[in-house]
Amino acid sequence: MSSPNFGHERARRFQRALEAYPRARTTELLPLLAAARPARLGAGTAVELGSGSGYLTRLLQEMYATVYAVEKSAQMLERLPDGAVAVQVDGLVTGVAELPPGVRPDLVVSLATFHHIVERHAETGKVDDEASRVLQENSVAAWVDRLAEGGRFVLVDVGRRDDLDDTRAYLTRAAERLSAADGPSMAAADVEALDKALPDYGLRATLDVLGHPDGDLSLAGLARAYADAGYPLTTNGPITHFDETVRTHSIEGHDAYFWSAGDLAAGLARAGLSDVTVTTLPTPWLFLDKLGAYWFINELFGLDLDPEERRTGQSGTAIIDRNLTIRSDADHAIVDWQLLYATGVKRGRRGRSETSDSPPA
Ligand SMILES: C[S@@+](CC[C@H](N)C(=O)[O-])C[C@H]1O[C@@H](n2cnc3c(N)ncnc32)[C@H](O)[C@@H]1O
Repeated sequence: MSSPNFGHERARRFQRALEAYPRARTTELLPLLAAARPARLGAGTAVELGSGSGYLTRLLQEMYATVYAVEKSAQMLERLPDGAVAVQVDGLVTGVAELPPGVRPDLVVSLATFHHIVERHAETGKVDDEASRVLQENSVAAWVDRLAEGGRFVLVDVGRRDDLDDTRAYLTRAAERLSAADGPSMAAADVEALDKALPDYGLRATLDVLGHPDGDLSLAGLARAYADAGYPLTTNGPITHFDETVRTHSIEGHDAYFWSAGDLAAGLARAGLSDVTVTTLPTPWLFLDKLGAYWFINELFGLDLDPEERRTGQSGTAIIDRNLTIRSDADHAIVDWQLLYATGVKRGRRGRSETSDSPPA
């Protein structure tokens, strides 16, 4: 199987899922409000790597004066919201040259994209993990070079936790570590302003579902809220969903390389970032019922489950259930998704300090 190129049908179904359920992935955006916030709302320049159809781009446009959306897929770029500056690239290392000269962004951010960046063994065509890790690290380094001094790099993606703690202990420790590191936060008034500007994302309503108190929003505060509410984390998170369900059943296939938290922290420091933090957070996808959750997953990943159902008699929902947990209570169906949130600051050419899930390799 190859990696997806997000051609016409895959891009169409991806965007259709996000338009039908604009609040489903809002928990992914909440930590980004804190991690990616500008010095002043509406000022500065942001670059988004792998913008897709503009899901995070829309939020960045409310936060920054100028947003460059860097993408490989022309079909995804066609769907970008008005106002974002489209930058089409072949890859992220060479693609940095496509950014207009002289642009020194205050933020470079990427959501759910880096795992697509893979290098293959010449003979077998299979993903070469070590070469993929190096290519991803070189992609980070290329964009760190363009960041303004003091600018922030934020990489959010599916990955592995390195520790074997239970979730509550892990999240409590993460909250303490992030508070001590004095990580970035967004003022409550700015969260309210963004909630008003993008009502379909339901930022405030989602915080209420999580039981997050009013007030400034930070990664530490979210970790604490998830620990208190008992949202689960696993070691590999959604990786087996990609490696088995998406790889076998997506209309474009899906080969990937996923970072571990410790390797990612070390990689970001080597790429030239300081004050590196890497934290795994629950990002539960929220729906009103299970039917909505299954439909969203089918569309977002471009799955084609019908032939398998005809061949084996096993339903599409059972195939999704093999590798993803979908729970339901009286009010919601919840898909147990989780992501690595990695941040670092550019201070001179080499990274100087780091804190992370585990010591760098
Ligand atoms: C899963 S989508 C995520 C899109 C968006 N960030 C979101 O969270 O909805 C991954 C995106 O990364 C893009 N992509 C993959 N490899 C890329 C590369 N080397 N350079 C730029 N974009 C890439 C794909 O075309 C796709 O639009």
